[in-house]
Amino acid sequence: MDAKTDRRSFLVTAGATLAAAASALDAQTEQPIRLAIIGAGHRAWAHLAILKTLPQFQVVALADPTPANLDKAASLAPGAKTYSDYRKLLAERNDIDAVVVITPSFLHSEVTVAALDRGLPVLCEKPMATTVEDANRMIEASRKSGKLLYIGFQKRLVPVTAKMHELAAAGEIGTIEFVSGNLFRGDWNPESWKYTDPKTGVATNWRYLTFTEGSALLEDGIHELDSLNWMIDNRVTRVMASGGNNVFKQRETVDHVAAVMEYENGVKLSFELCLFAPNAGPTARRMVLIGSEGVMTPESGRVAIRSRSGGAARYVDVVDNTPKAATAGAIGSAQDPETYQQYLAFESSLRTGRPPAVTPEDGKTAIKMVLLAEKSLRTHRVMNWNDLPA
Ligand SMILES: NC(=O)c1ccc[n+]([C@@H]2O[C@H](COP(=O)([O-])OP(=O)(O)OC[C@H]3O[C@@H](n4cnc5c(N)ncnc54)[C@H](O)[C@@H]3O)[C@@H](O)[C@H]2O)c1
Repeated sequence: MDAKTDRRSFLVTAGATLAAAASALDAQTEQPIRLAIIGAGHRAWAHLAILKTLPQFQVVALADPTPANLDKAASLAPGAKTYSDYRKLLAERNDIDAVVVITPSFLHSEVTVAALDRGLPVLCEKPMATTVEDANRMIEASRKSGKLLYIGFQKRLVPVTAKMHELAAAGEIGTIEFVSGNLFRGDWNPESWKYTDPKTGVATNWRYLTFTEGSALLEDGIHELDSLNWMIDNRVTRVMASGGNNVFKQRETVDHVAAVMEYENGVKLSFELCLFAPNAGPTARRMVLIGSEGVMTPESGRVAIRSRSGGAARYVDVVDNTPKAATAGAIGSAQDPETYQQYLAFESSLRTGRPPAVTPEDGKTAIKMVLLAEKSLRTHRVMNWNDLPA
């Protein structure tokens, strides 16, 4: 075994049946996992701030065509070599253990497939892709290469959300019967990367175009939809949605959506996104699970459970064991324990071969829910699950 093979031998392939033999590894005594980050904009800077606190990872290469963004990323990853073209990085480097894809969403599939085809495991930011066909190409590339593909739905790891999932699965509110959620926020970051249309030469914020963003719900709201779908644990059969542009009238992607998803077991999931509510206070992010025996919501970092027949709430405390210093300031002034925890989950899958906490199929299900909602709001029709490819 040559040094390189030996160096990488601890990173077992996805799908390998080593789970039974796997024991918890002491990350501190293992060699760091060498990462290449492709796409070095705002979200990558948050990843890099967190990675600086995780000695089990070492960022050794960065790729981005925008010099200012690449420079800022490089300042957060001392020693990493920079590339303006990710293809050069993948062709040139033989010392990478895994790739993190943080490009604008329409490029996730292209970059992820290239990395997997090169034999490298991938952590790909959400949304997995902007089309079901692209998601299928990624799943196939992971299958063919036998390499891990982890989709970055880190919000499942928000401590209170993970607790809600655990309590719902344990039947704390009986059988789930109705679910509601929303995301009321401000507009997309005006500093986002600009996509230049090759036909017209016009550069537009990638979050304003359907081709590059896919759908407003794909860009945000998909986190909550994925988390709620994870808790409902059933199959969506039909999707209907309404939406449009009431404030940001000049852009292709919508600024508000109200969507309803119907499940095989009769559950309905109702979800709303609004991009012109920057200061929505406690109503900004709601998740409500209504079951046969109670109603569950997150409240100030705890889970509140109320009986359907009245009475006071019972509160379940949530433990967050993420070191506060590790994620302070990772995104503005906010804590981001979930992205920290996501890297621990990614590391665990890499080192043990255990299936990822969020599978490529989970990623595809979430984008299919959203793309059906997008299709419904554009056509004013109710969509069936089979109206998009399997
Ligand atoms: N999980 C989360 O909570 C979360 C939060 C924000 C963004 N995201 C996702 O992260 C991704 C990036 O978002 P962002 O906020 O960083 O956007 P951004 O516009 O700030 O940065 C995107 C970067 O990608 C670069 N890029 C463009 N084409 C590229 C190419 N061919 N190769 C390499 N890099 C390329 C741009 O130059 C830019 O630096 C999106 O998919 C977004 O949905 C996830």
